[in-house]
Amino acid sequence: MPKAVILSGGWGTRLRPLTCSIPKTLIPICNKPVMERQILLLKAAGVNEIVLAVSVMADVIKEYFKDGQKLGIKISYTDEIFPAGTAGAIKLAESFLKDENFFMLNGDVILNFDFSKMLQFHNKSKAFGTIASKIVEDPSRYGVIIANPTTNKIEKFLEKEEYKPPAGGPVPMPINSGVYLLEPEVFSYIPSNKKVSIEREVFPKIAEEHEVYHFPIEGIWKDIGKPYELLQGNISLMKDLIQNLNEVHNSLIDYSAQISPTSKIIHPCVIGEQTVIRQNCIIGPNAIIGDNVFIDNNTVLKNSVIYNETYISKHVEIENAIISDNCTIGDNAHLKGIEDKLILLSSHVKVMKNIEIVNINKDYFSVCHHEIVSESVK
Ligand code: GDD
Ligand code: MG
Repeated sequence: MPKAVILSGGWGTRLRPLTCSIPKTLIPICNKPVMERQILLLKAAGVNEIVLAVSVMADVIKEYFKDGQKLGIKISYTDEIFPAGTAGAIKLAESFLKDENFFMLNGDVILNFDFSKMLQFHNKSKAFGTIASKIVEDPSRYGVIIANPTTNKIEKFLEKEEYKPPAGGPVPMPINSGVYLLEPEVFSYIPSNKKVSIEREVFPKIAEEHEVYHFPIEGIWKDIGKPYELLQGNISLMKDLIQNLNEVHNSLIDYSAQISPTSKIIHPCVIGEQTVIRQNCIIGPNAIIGDNVFIDNNTVLKNSVIYNETYISKHVEIENAIISDNCTIGDNAHLKGIEDKLILLSSHVKVMKNIEIVNINKDYFSVCHHEIVSESVK
């Protein structure tokens, strides 16, 4: 069975300040880190050894996954001192991956798909590499795949700014979803001790010289590059998980959550372990609430993600927001993003009582970790 390498080393700059206190690949998606979800999908396909190519906040990631025992899979780590780029990072795992083909994943994509189908396709086509693809409406911020429509053989691989959309605006195209199956010979294309990008320096070359195919990925897919994508990704995964349940449910509510019967849940929602929702609250639709969250009386919450251990007081209104772990929101605070102009609170933020923030003008209204919000902004 192939092994896998997952990349977890970028700075996550477009998600700041959320990524100032939590590495991007540990950001919870429906209450589980995005990379943990990937690891569990790989395990379900039969993978039993994974190396995590860590760099930024490596210690936090190692502390979370340790040797993988808790997830029932063997996890090891590369030793990358400076960010080595997406190919340089896997070069450090060459001795671990050199014996057979292996999965490679960008650790920041949300998906819910069967990796064994991709392995079957790769082995059948005897490809040098298989790149899982997804058709997106606007391909301009991804790696774009130009392929033979009958065989799926990749003819050209164009990373971001190398792709020029036709006049008249974007057209849907298959893009690189950040999930690959590669033969170990790929390492001969990656020089040692150098920062190398797999998308810019390796894929265009191997697509020219070898059989590299794309494999359309089934189901949901989202790169959590920006905060609005993070919210949308949570909502898409929530709907997908609910749809795939054996029994009929409209929300994912942990059995240990305590919800007052006077509160109303508007489906779909996710409510985590030991979370308490007190009286006369209106929760949802699209409220994704973590573990050990406390929500006091008469609070209204929708279209938002709340990480673990956050305290939300009485008469609070929250809409279009991402609120990290261990925040405290005071009585009667109103935090309202307008559509994609979200409110973002990093970890341990405190919002004082009676504060009103309505984000009309900025891309994002964001607060760094441990800050106190004591003035209203409208
Ligand atoms: N270890 C390590 N070292 N990991 C890195 C480094 C590094 O120097 N640089 C980036 N990564 C990791 C990030 O943590 C992320 O998991 C993954 O590599 C991809 O980096 P991003 O910065 O998120 O790239 P992107 O989203 O702009 O574009 C890439 O992914 C798209 C799909 O999500 C490209 O590969 C595109 O072609 C692709 O469409
Ligand atoms: Mg990305």
